Amino acid sequence: MRLVRPSIEWKNEHEDYMKEWDESRMTPSSFNLNGYENYEAYLEALKNRERGDGKWVPCTNYFLADESDRIIAMVDIRHELTDYLRNIGGHIGYGVRPVERRKGYATLILAKALKKCDELGIQRVLVTCNADNIGSAKTILKNGGVEDKSFIEEDGTVIRRFWMER
Ligand SMILES: CC(C)(COP(=O)(O)OP(=O)(O)OC[C@H]1O[C@@H](n2cnc3c(N)ncnc32)[C@H](O)[C@@H]1OP(=O)(O)O)[C@@H](O)C(=O)NCCC(=O)NCCS
Repeated sequence: MRLVRPSIEWKNEHEDYMKEWDESRMTPSSFNLNGYENYEAYLEALKNRERGDGKWVPCTNYFLADESDRIIAMVDIRHELTDYLRNIGGHIGYGVRPVERRKGYATLILAKALKKCDELGIQRVLVTCNADNIGSAKTILKNGGVEDKSFIEEDGTVIRRFWMER
């Protein structure tokens, strides 16, 4: 299992992965191909996000791919926190292919993402999840997350917030 950056070679595999998701709930949303004219346009937009253009802080996106180059999970690492990310989004967002859940892949991709955070020099990594997302909370706790105060959104949604000291 390895982390790889999105590139044109992954077009078909990325599109296949998308088909298995309810598109409106694709997580992380930065991997959602909807609304792009083609894969090249998506890659261009991703490049802009990686540079931190517009409303985005610099971020890096990776696929978790297996030995047969199948995408198993996806992760988005935000290099800095804004007020929104400090309360709701955190540094790292991840999602696992629906048919590959409950096999330890979220735990693995978060561990690999934390190593990337080390390379980026992020010393305190914030990872968050909705209070009803038991699988994500367990994934965070298994990677050493220490819980901070929750944040409550205007609609009452409770966001659990965890720090990882590196
Ligand atoms: C949440 C999600 C990432 C978990 O991925 P996963 O690969 O199934 O997680 P893992 O297999 O690494 O499991 C980690 C732990 O959570 C538990 N777990 C996973 N899904 C669970 C669920 N739906 N209910 C209860 N526990 C769950 C596992 O059993 C494991 O705990 P254990 O070691 O004590 O058995 C995955 O369900 C997903 O992609 N969901 C949609 C996107 C999302 O919610 N992303 C996170 C945003 S914060």
